[in-house]
Amino acid sequence: MDKRLLTCAALCVGDRLADIGTDHGYLPCYMVKNGLCKTALACDVAEKPLQSAKEHISRSGLENSIETVLSDGLDSVDSNGITDISIAGMGGELIADILSRAEWVRKNRVNLVLQPMTKWDVLRKWLYDNCFEIKKELPSQEGRFVYSVMQAVYTGEKPSYSCDLRYLYCGLVSADSPDGRAYLERQAFRLETAGRGMLGSGEKSELAAEMLKTAESIRFELSKEV
Ligand SMILES: C[S@@+](CC[C@H](N)C(=O)[O-])C[C@H]1O[C@@H](n2cnc3c(N)ncnc32)[C@H](O)[C@@H]1O
Repeated sequence: MDKRLLTCAALCVGDRLADIGTDHGYLPCYMVKNGLCKTALACDVAEKPLQSAKEHISRSGLENSIETVLSDGLDSVDSNGITDISIAGMGGELIADILSRAEWVRKNRVNLVLQPMTKWDVLRKWLYDNCFEIKKELPSQEGRFVYSVMQAVYTGEKPSYSCDLRYLYCGLVSADSPDGRAYLERQAFRLETAGRGMLGSGEKSELAAEMLKTAESIRFELSKEV
């Protein structure tokens, strides 16, 4: 378990976890072994990672508590009793696509723990447009990489925060920790680079200006926090 997966574990809340794209099955094994949930499903679309999850589960003596499921996203996952779904280490677009195909996630108000590697803006926009509220967001820095893990739930209403560039790039991450500061720095840099690139090529000048303004306000926020 690395720091990023430990951050995912910290945002799970219930008794039965479905870990989608489980690969080695580290997260469900850690959760059950430490009594953080009672049972889990370790799910993956590919046979090879699922086999590796099976071996890890068996080495840990957790066969009675963790089932492996071959599934594209949530398509073959039995929703019965699932309290938490974790989807980590995938692109934001793929995470949004997986969630959009499983109506029961909304109906059952499942606690979602999402860690996009790329396209966090696409995922945050999808969550906002589809009435999922981000309740908490935790940054996690590992070496030169910095991630954000979101805890979200379907509420049936548009969230009270606005879907602006600050939200799309930074979500609820704040500057009150070294990891949070690192995440905000990185996102401000991305906004600035994208904004300058657009201005340079003469396209979408309004959006470019908005990006540069947002980057500046994040930097200002960072200059105030100690
Ligand atoms: C980079 S690994 C992430 C492993 C682990 N979740 C983590 O964060 O460390 C991505 C895993 O997602 C799986 N995957 C990719 N697309 C998937 C899909 N549509 N449904 C389920 N699993 C998928 C891959 O087979 C791979 O095992």
